[in-house]
Amino acid sequence: MIVYGGDWNPEQWPEEVWAEDVALMREAGVNRVSVGIFSWSRLEPVEGVFEFGWLDRCLDLLAAGGVQACLATPTAAPPPWFGHTYPEALPVDADGRTLHHGSRQAFCPSSPIYREKALRVAEQVARRYAGHPALAIWHVHNEYGCHNARCYCDTSAAAFRAWLRERYGTLEALNDAWGTDFWSQRYGDWEQILPPRATPTFVNPGQQLDFRRFSSDALLDLYRAERDLLAEITPDVPATTNLMAGMHWDMDYFSFGPELDVIASDHYLIGDDPHVHLAFSADLARSLGGGRPWVLMEHSTSAVNWQGHNRAKRPGEMRRNSIQHLARGADAIMFFQWRASRAGAEKWHSGMVPHAGKDTKIWREVVELGALLKGLAEVAGSTVAAEAAVLLDYASIWAQDHPAQPTSNLRPLEVVTEWYGKLWELGVTCDVVHPESDLSGYRLVVVPSLYLVSDAGAANLERFTAAGGVALVGPYSGIVDEHDRVRLGGYPGAWRDLLGVTVEEFFPLAAGERVELSGGGAGTVWSEVAHATTAKVLDTYLTGEPAWTRNTWGEGAAHYLTTLLHGDDLRRVVAEVCAEAGVGTSATPGLEVVRRAHPDGRRYLFAINHTGAEATVAATGVALPDGTPVEGRLTVPAGAVAIVRETAP
Ligand code: GLA
Repeated sequence: MIVYGGDWNPEQWPEEVWAEDVALMREAGVNRVSVGIFSWSRLEPVEGVFEFGWLDRCLDLLAAGGVQACLATPTAAPPPWFGHTYPEALPVDADGRTLHHGSRQAFCPSSPIYREKALRVAEQVARRYAGHPALAIWHVHNEYGCHNARCYCDTSAAAFRAWLRERYGTLEALNDAWGTDFWSQRYGDWEQILPPRATPTFVNPGQQLDFRRFSSDALLDLYRAERDLLAEITPDVPATTNLMAGMHWDMDYFSFGPELDVIASDHYLIGDDPHVHLAFSADLARSLGGGRPWVLMEHSTSAVNWQGHNRAKRPGEMRRNSIQHLARGADAIMFFQWRASRAGAEKWHSGMVPHAGKDTKIWREVVELGALLKGLAEVAGSTVAAEAAVLLDYASIWAQDHPAQPTSNLRPLEVVTEWYGKLWELGVTCDVVHPESDLSGYRLVVVPSLYLVSDAGAANLERFTAAGGVALVGPYSGIVDEHDRVRLGGYPGAWRDLLGVTVEEFFPLAAGERVELSGGGAGTVWSEVAHATTAKVLDTYLTGEPAWTRNTWGEGAAHYLTTLLHGDDLRRVVAEVCAEAGVGTSATPGLEVVRRAHPDGRRYLFAINHTGAEATVAATGVALPDGTPVEGRLTVPAGAVAIVRETAP
């Protein structure tokens, strides 16, 4: 079964609506809803007083209707009494401002009081509904760290110090890692260490980086505490929490991934090429679970309400978005939210049941999508095999986020998504993985922008290349160690040998400035004076310095770019490297083609046509869900999707 549904928030509606909701869910083919996510103030209206009657009735209605519950612990939104009774548990920002209730996630992640109250309500929910026939999976919290990723209060400061003691053991080691002899920051006592609160000028980069690591760990620790509690009470019910893969960068999702029974992630359309960003997010979500099928916990049927301009989806767009996620390994397609709210901060966010009711594009498309997913049930459990990987590390992004860098215009996430976009255009399905993960299954590894890399990560790429892989590394990668200390002796210190290049100085370009290349292209944002030691130079600046190099390394080769390329210039390099690695297909522009397969060999081709014209792709098998034979060529109408169970060649 492909799971289909969304967040159901019955507490926002009079009880008469609930039965109608379940009837509509059945009509739409909805088989699972997330429930109770923001219900804490209903479940525990007064501290210590629990009221479950209303949720009992909701879950009973779901069970009777054959709809599963992805039952939430309501801990993402403490009720008003919480902040009033325990003001010391409210989050504090870097400027010392306390953030109050009135929205959500108003708690300090390190607060023992918050943890105690959250675990108490989670335990009540778990004991109440353990064994309930609707209960299928736990939805722990909601989007950890979406609004309170870092807290700078005194409680957090003490927890940060404890985390640092654990990490470094001695103050000497911490002073060394953070380079505290710079600007007289040497610590003589653990108690002197603070979170990176507002300072007169640039804060210590090591301190900032470790605080971000600590903050991510604090949230992960909260997840683990709830998950362990739930596992004690309902050992057979899996648990997850909705990540925001590719959308939010404050938590190290590579550390969250292994802790979730199934990866769940949320995605909303953003940027100029929203479907490319969607693919990136889906590939990252899949990679966080080591390739296992994952849950798309939220996306939108149409507009969201939190962008400056909230674009509504055109007819067919929601279906393309959903099938893109499915193609990239999701076994569940869910939305925020079931019924569009009448009141509250998200009343202008689309839902599966819009304000205007059933006689609408949205409702018709919701029903059609439900029928389509029902007809694709056999796809569930199949997986995506990627031949290429993009390396990404949250710590690297955090380190580069320090304001004192050679340029603020070299933005790693923009580079990563731009490079990913070229691979997408070339039809290369990628995993998005941590630099220290097992790379042996890939033929191509691209490293668009990885300022920080550990020794282990650096050696990993060398090993991959030596074993016959092809690597493509972007500028300002491999520059610092895990403490954000420069790797000396010529940049990029981590990969000078692998790339056969040594860089003596960076020359960041001004806004709008371009550096012409002898091959006809041009770079922006960044340039550097590099010398090829063992690498062959494939393209140069007009001054003769290397712009693109290739170095043989063991059985493989490592390419390096010393500037940022875009458009066709970047495409040419990526295409050449893909060809050398033997990955990619002859992609039709705008026709996204991805495959999933079962271990028994059943294989599915997904084709999503993002263009306004009919497109074709080679395929043989039967079209799903209707079983029409496909003989050699599949035609996908403009804006449509097609799925084929392929006949084994
Ligand atoms: C997030 C949250 C939801 C809702 C949506 C709106 O994904 O989890 O509760 O706020 O954003 O897009």
